Amino acid sequence: MSKSWLRHGYNKVARILGRDPKKQSFPVLEGHPAAQQHAEVAVETQGDIQNRVKKLHKEFKIYRWSPGQNKPFLQSYYVNLSNCGPMVLDALQKIKAEDDSSLSYRRSCREGICGSCAMNIDGTNTVACLKPIDADINKPTIITPLPHMYVIKDLVVDLTNFYQQYRSIEPWLKTKRPPEDGREYKQSPADRKKLDGLYECILCACCSTSCPSYWWNPELFLGPAALLHSFRWISDSRDEFTEERVQALTEDFKKLYSCRVIENCTATCPKSLNPANAILKLKTKHLASQPVERLGSM
Ligand code: SF4
Ligand code: SF4
Ligand code: FES
Repeated sequence: MSKSWLRHGYNKVARILGRDPKKQSFPVLEGHPAAQQHAEVAVETQGDIQNRVKKLHKEFKIYRWSPGQNKPFLQSYYVNLSNCGPMVLDALQKIKAEDDSSLSYRRSCREGICGSCAMNIDGTNTVACLKPIDADINKPTIITPLPHMYVIKDLVVDLTNFYQQYRSIEPWLKTKRPPEDGREYKQSPADRKKLDGLYECILCACCSTSCPSYWWNPELFLGPAALLHSFRWISDSRDEFTEERVQALTEDFKKLYSCRVIENCTATCPKSLNPANAILKLKTKHLASQPVERLGSM
């Protein structure tokens, strides 16, 4: 603001001396002193805004590691927020396009649908395309890979075990009889509604990689994502393998019962799903199917 008043003062003196500093700039406004003055102020304000905008650089500290490299480290990048999209994934795209093409991360849909841009942002697992950039330029945003996972490069982690666990719950409709009309298995709207809160999972792995039980037993415990999907098929009125599915989940108790109901999974899910609740219902379903004498020994 003070710069603006200085400029006004300078312009006033220049006019008194017969030198109009802006006259040359707006010939079309000749003879319209008020409009001329407004145009000057507008140009000056724009300059001011541009100068301030230049200061809107935000620091992103990003985990870097490549095979063969000794130790991982956090690399700082400065992103001009004035010409960057609003989400953390936008900042990553900008860094990769303009600063450092060697930075590796996964992404595809940028709509929160594919689940591939999952990472840890400022201490929370989430998908980068749904996470708004924290506009506070006084503190950096810290981005690291999903925790307790083997890193392939930078923010890309090895999800082989995670996908194998998903595959192990047989995530497809299993039936024993052909459909009544010979064409399709029908479902009432009420039964379809029972799948809400389950089918929306995008397999981003944010929940499983935030779960302490999964950190310590990733080979034995199926983890909240695979279990939520298992419950999705067990809840499907068209599926005829409910019993077999529940039994398969508990042939080794650690697959299901390693869950200690800490609920990190539900707290972190970027799709607001509730895997902890699905696990609880799975346990209830399993316990309800056990003979009373067996319950005492469990
Ligand atoms: S509720 Fe179970 S699955 Fe979810 S974070 Fe806790 S232990 Fe892991
Ligand atoms: S339950 Fe949520 S956090 Fe877990 S994989 Fe699905 S979408 Fe991701
Ligand atoms: S890019 Fe697909 S969920 Fe983020």
